[in-house]
Amino acid sequence: MKYRIVYDSRTGNTQRVAGAIEKGLAAYTGAVCRIEEALEQGPDPETDVYFVGFWNDKGTCSEGVQAFLSRLHGTQAALFGTCGMGSSEAYFRQVEDRVKALLPEDCGYLGAFLCAGRMPAQVLERYRKMQQQEDSPRIRMMIRAYEEGQSHPDEADLTQAAAFAAAAMERALAGKPNEKP
Ligand SMILES: Cc1cc2nc3c(=O)[nH]c(=O)nc-3n(C[C@H](O)[C@H](O)[C@H](O)COP(=O)(O)O)c2cc1C
Repeated sequence: MKYRIVYDSRTGNTQRVAGAIEKGLAAYTGAVCRIEEALEQGPDPETDVYFVGFWNDKGTCSEGVQAFLSRLHGTQAALFGTCGMGSSEAYFRQVEDRVKALLPEDCGYLGAFLCAGRMPAQVLERYRKMQQQEDSPRIRMMIRAYEEGQSHPDEADLTQAAAFAAAAMERALAGKPNEKP
């Protein structure tokens, strides 16, 4: 059973998680590539299990990842992703639900691993400007989330991502996906 890790990453956070996922799958045969390459090539007929990584783009994944997910007919797929607003499990589950709904019905779903991912300094500058205009609890919460995200993905996130990948691959081999998307 071959795996493929396909990821989209603008600033490197999701790429680091993709590296950890690859480590977690060291016992298996597979390959890793960026979304642009995967879209060009289309799904590989020899690959049974996909690990698709995304950065949170306004609550979902980028258009490229959306297009790729919709093509994964007859495969098994796990998701991984990074979010700037990364302090709440409930938020992660909302994002997971939105992205997994993009998988075709005949794709076995193997679950998702989401963690926080640091945002660029320009985001904080924008928040500070907003705060100068109106210092609301919402903007303070956004600044707190920005600050908490700065150290992520950290070593613990990467270790968890690797363990998630190994467990998902075991479920795929056992033919026991979590549920239909
Ligand atoms: C245009 C844009 C929109 C974003 N929207 C969200 C969002 O809605 N929720 C969130 O948690 N993070 C959001 N982020 C933050 C990124 O998802 C986060 O920093 C992620 O870790 C970036 O991953 P990357 O380094 O792999 O590109 C957004 C970032 C950008 C650039």
